[in-house]
Amino acid sequence: MARIQHLLDIEGLSDADALRLLDRADVLLEEARGADTRKSSLLRGKTVVNLFFEASTRTRTSFEIAGKRLGADVINVSPSASSVSKGETLLDTVLNIHAMHADAVVIRHAAEGVPHFLARRVRCAVVNAGDGAHEHPTQALLDALTIRRAKGTLSGLTVAICGDISRSRVARSNALLLGRMGNTVRLAGPRTMLPVRADALGVGVSVHTDLASAVRGADVVMMLRIQSERAVGAVTSTAREYSRTFGLNPRTLAGAKADAIVMHPGPVNRGVELDPSLADGPRSVILDQVEAGVAVRMAVLAEACAA
Ligand code: CP
Repeated sequence: MARIQHLLDIEGLSDADALRLLDRADVLLEEARGADTRKSSLLRGKTVVNLFFEASTRTRTSFEIAGKRLGADVINVSPSASSVSKGETLLDTVLNIHAMHADAVVIRHAAEGVPHFLARRVRCAVVNAGDGAHEHPTQALLDALTIRRAKGTLSGLTVAICGDISRSRVARSNALLLGRMGNTVRLAGPRTMLPVRADALGVGVSVHTDLASAVRGADVVMMLRIQSERAVGAVTSTAREYSRTFGLNPRTLAGAKADAIVMHPGPVNRGVELDPSLADGPRSVILDQVEAGVAVRMAVLAEACAA
């Protein structure tokens, strides 16, 4: 049976693998809504280690819930409470976890390429939970699942991704996956937050320097937070100024299709990139994204940990 061994990025994930994971996640999401079928024994006896070197609420928690719902033992290793704080290297940390017969390591790290580096050195599965500004593959898969469930299709849509594009691993993974699936992807942001080369982000991708033109006629509007933790120096004048020019509000959203959905990977800076009335409004699918995240991570772990 076809399965992924690691999940390192969207760039290296075939369309067939992506669609199979989405189909499986769709079934798991429906099952999770039925209380009787929430817990499975598929990964009983398997061990998943969450190793997060950057802060996380959604990704770390949903990988933990996903592993536990499949019957795996899930261990969370916090760098600040581990021997990393005593100077142990990342590779030594992971080799030690590997020696304890972990079946999968889920890793988030500020340095791009860390999951790839580890995957070449360990035999257990490595799952990228976000590496620097490079990729966040499970976020793109959960966003694709959310879009497909809301729109009934994953092709032929116009998707506007708006905000701090150049520092966003979410924008990169989404542009790659959604572009490949046959959607028109518009990336919008102030010039200081746009990539030098949009064509490197995949097929069907265009760049916009004003929000209104990116949102016009869109089926999906995805807003992003300013990634100030990855910025060198100030990237915008003030939050108020940014909100005025690049924050999505009801007036700007009126240019999108009447049934356009509003997405955000979280965490949301309310009132900066997204008006609270839209974050909590009927067109917001932000919490649907979070729900889909557990299902997608279950599908990923189910394949990656399979014997
Ligand atoms: N979307 C996302 O990655 O959220 P966290 O940083 O909370 O995991």
